[in-house]
Amino acid sequence: MSQTDHLQKILITGATGYIGRRLKTRLLARKDLSLRLLVRNRHKVSAATRARVEIVEGDTFNRQALDSALAGIDTAYYLVHSMGAEKDFAELDRRSAENFREACIRAGVRRIIYLGGLGAGESASKHLRSRIETGEILSALPERIQTIWFRAGIIIGSGSASFEIIRSLVHKLPVMITPKWVATMTQPIGVDDVLAYLEAALDLEREGDLVVDIGSRAMSFKEMMLQTARVLGLRRWLIQVPVLTPRLSSYWLVLFTTVPFRVAAALVEGLKSETVVQNDNAARFFPEIHPLPYEDAVRRAVEEQVQQQVISRWCDSSADAACDITAHDDPGGAILRDVRILPLDGLSQAAVFRAVCGIGGEHGWYTYNFLWRMRGLIDKLVGGYGLNRGRRDDRELRLGDALDFWKVADIRENKRLLLHAQMKVPGRAWLEFDIQPDQLVQTAHFIPSGIWGRLYWYAVLPLHALVFTNLARRILASARTKENT
Ligand SMILES: NC(=O)c1ccc[n+]([C@@H]2O[C@H](COP(=O)([O-])OP(=O)(O)OC[C@H]3O[C@@H](n4cnc5c(N)ncnc54)[C@H](OP(=O)(O)O)[C@@H]3O)[C@@H](O)[C@H]2O)c1
Repeated sequence: MSQTDHLQKILITGATGYIGRRLKTRLLARKDLSLRLLVRNRHKVSAATRARVEIVEGDTFNRQALDSALAGIDTAYYLVHSMGAEKDFAELDRRSAENFREACIRAGVRRIIYLGGLGAGESASKHLRSRIETGEILSALPERIQTIWFRAGIIIGSGSASFEIIRSLVHKLPVMITPKWVATMTQPIGVDDVLAYLEAALDLEREGDLVVDIGSRAMSFKEMMLQTARVLGLRRWLIQVPVLTPRLSSYWLVLFTTVPFRVAAALVEGLKSETVVQNDNAARFFPEIHPLPYEDAVRRAVEEQVQQQVISRWCDSSADAACDITAHDDPGGAILRDVRILPLDGLSQAAVFRAVCGIGGEHGWYTYNFLWRMRGLIDKLVGGYGLNRGRRDDRELRLGDALDFWKVADIRENKRLLLHAQMKVPGRAWLEFDIQPDQLVQTAHFIPSGIWGRLYWYAVLPLHALVFTNLARRILASARTKENT
């Protein structure tokens, strides 16, 4: 008998996403489990975690990957969705769920645990309908496999999209003219409580499927904002008017918060109808879990942010921007480049790497910050991310992290940082820092889309001349200062 034969074998899908990352961290603390992750890119999992779990690379559209991931598994978490896909996400989600259920049955998995959204089918948004459909597909064959299907509304936690929206609005706007939908009732829940339910479902002794609606006290979006203001020690006034359309509201959110139009529109769309619990299965089957009151969940989320302990963020997952890191990590095909090479003059590669990894977010971009801010504003105005996403953590960057309007596409300790542009540009762009033993090579790569792409590149060349020359210089200067102190 091998050392792990007596352990419960668990598979987490979506382990690089907002919920999956946190669930993985939580389950790693349990000694009675053996964890396997199905991920699309193993490098999005830290080296420390890779040493403690089994990893299967692939996705839910790949039968072979699913079979390898599910072999010998007792319980499988389904925490994936295709919402960032440009193609029809609902159809992709249907196929993904069917593939997963069938592969689980083939492998003899005992239980699927799925987290979907709260709300009734008839009035649901397109996104929520797809989440409901996913749950229905996973649980369509109860005689062959058991499904425990949790349904949660707005999740409150550091880095969750809804929480970042609420927090930014409350922070920036002392008086808010709010649309009708802020009065819609919803039932938020703290992310740690969600994880507690997901974990407890592993040990639940029960045959047959179960749908479990989870949430703390029901309240309106307006009440959530006022309570958030209280936690932040701010006084805020909300004046409700019946005129702001969902579209206008979404633009409003885009302008004042970290999220792009697509995420704002999904939230507003979701808030047009009630999302409150419809069964009491949470209390019946998991009586030991008492969801934190909303204000406490907010307090905890703020604390995590202040202490730089944000494990996951809504924009971690590639699904968020249909930007699969594996497809974007090689700017080799770029045909336009801006290259700056500066000697290290005795600086260590480690010091330069630290300075390179300090860019963006609250620190800014070392030089010409007003130009970066203007670029961010233009990006926001045309529906991009702008600079508002900032960074997950001030000190650390990891593969897949959002960094203002970039995404970390490759990171190698003391050697390389590659950022893939997620700003709206007529083409594909990267910014690369290659730290060689004696020089820093900073390259902006660009693959233009047709004539507009080329015009764009030549139009911004004078700005590049200013910004990029100085950026490389200032990175080295910062590395020198840090090395000398
Ligand atoms: N977050 C919330 O506020 C919230 C609220 C209520 C319910 N939920 C539910 O919780 C579940 C997880 O949501 P989340 O917010 O954690 O999502 P997320 O952050 O967007 O993460 C999605 C995960 O799925 C992976 N993925 C996407 N398509 C895949 C595929 N075909 N095969 C394998 N992996 C794939 C992504 O991998 P990459 O990293 O490679 O992209 C990522 O790890 C969803 O069902 C959602 O409806 C979430």
